[in-house]
Amino acid sequence: MSSSTAQPTLIRNGRIITACDDYVADVLMSHGLIHTIGHNIEVGPDVAVVDATGLYVLPGGVDTHVHMENVIGPTITCDSFASGTRAAAFGGTTTVVDFALQTATDSVLGAIARAQRSAEPQVSVDYSFHVIVTHVDDQVLKDVHYAMQHEGVTSFKMFMAYPGVMMADDAAIFRMLRQVGAEGGMVALHAENGTVIDLLIKEALEAGHTSPRYHAMTRPAIMEGEATHRGIRLAELAQAPIYFVHVSSNEALKHVVTARAEGIPVFAETCPHYLLFDDSVYNTDDFEIAKYVMTPPLRKPDDQKHLWRALRYDDLQVIATDHCPFCMKEGHLGYRMQKMRGKDDFSLIPNGAPGIETRMVSLFDIGVMQGKLSLNRFVELIATTPAKLFGLFPKKGTIAVGSDADVVLFDPKATQTIRAKDLHSNCDYTLLEGRELRGRVEKVFLRGNLIVDGARWLGREGMGKFVPRGEVRAF
Ligand code: URP
Ligand code: ZN
Ligand code: ZN
Repeated sequence: MSSSTAQPTLIRNGRIITACDDYVADVLMSHGLIHTIGHNIEVGPDVAVVDATGLYVLPGGVDTHVHMENVIGPTITCDSFASGTRAAAFGGTTTVVDFALQTATDSVLGAIARAQRSAEPQVSVDYSFHVIVTHVDDQVLKDVHYAMQHEGVTSFKMFMAYPGVMMADDAAIFRMLRQVGAEGGMVALHAENGTVIDLLIKEALEAGHTSPRYHAMTRPAIMEGEATHRGIRLAELAQAPIYFVHVSSNEALKHVVTARAEGIPVFAETCPHYLLFDDSVYNTDDFEIAKYVMTPPLRKPDDQKHLWRALRYDDLQVIATDHCPFCMKEGHLGYRMQKMRGKDDFSLIPNGAPGIETRMVSLFDIGVMQGKLSLNRFVELIATTPAKLFGLFPKKGTIAVGSDADVVLFDPKATQTIRAKDLHSNCDYTLLEGRELRGRVEKVFLRGNLIVDGARWLGREGMGKFVPRGEVRAF
């Protein structure tokens, strides 16, 4: 099944919601694209007709922060490109941007080629990569230029945390910002002060503090704030836009807010888990809380209040999942070195949590239904702005004539109870186990192909296409 062979389909009478529109109309999809939007569109017998009365017609979600088959230190995330992108599709996400990791023995271009080899035969939604750049020299900068000009890879991620694993120093980050910014791309930063955090971890372990709760206590918000401020100043000097991944705290957010008010092109995402949960989950020594060991850790209810304000008023522009799944049970589906690895030492717990399948529905429930986000803003945060900031718009992220026919039919009146056993990730848990949520993804079209129909999987491994990306659209 390819975009050119998808049967033309008319979505009849749905409520189309984009970042700025809200109206009832018909959508005709043909040759993988949105062909026509109008009223009472007439079609012949060759066109399939889907009645969407009472349903929202949303652009397919764009999730620009996911980790499939990512090698992180000694471990690997437990979703393959196949399982992870199938889970994405069931959650209404039709485009993902994953990571290609530059290693000590690998060039930037080699990293892209390696990620492509793994992803291409497996993915069932459209995809791209940010390259994680861990060291910078003249050759790396040449490769970065080549990747941007010839490979359609226009974003790069750097870490201010994880010394000795992925951390880059300030000069390396500055060099990347200067070049990538000048060429119209984006550097995404993981902002935490890695060396101070490593010292706090060492001191905690020396004091005999081994339980997962110390993960949170050794990654204080103030060190996220410090790194965020530093990253902003580097971007300001480099005259480049910058994007902060997984902003969790007001300590970090307040620097983003100030910089934006000063006119510095600073952009930032938060993730559903920072909105759904707070640090009260860490008030136990039960190893079960390892499922909440992600970086940065969960913060205080007061931080959530600030995150919501920023989401409403555009100081945060994106909600991405940071889907970074590790199993709780060692050996689940054969995966080793998962969360149990840190049973006696919290610093060995692989950092990350699943979430790719529940982003749309959980944010619909806690954002739209609880009156914190308008429907348009919801779409903007999970589809349109990530597409714009990472060079995918208007091909992705909206419903408009000529855009890819990536469309979700969403039932706002349905309710569902989330269970890991019903989800499609390889991960053996969900943070939302037992939670009742309003809203449900009913049908998902990828370039006009129906890939999810209720509980039925109609997609196919390898049908996802690599999307060459263009310049960021930052304003
Ligand atoms: O805990 C997290 N977020 N793990 C994934 C790696 C990263 O920092 O994004
Ligand atoms: Zn990160
Ligand atoms: Zn991540």
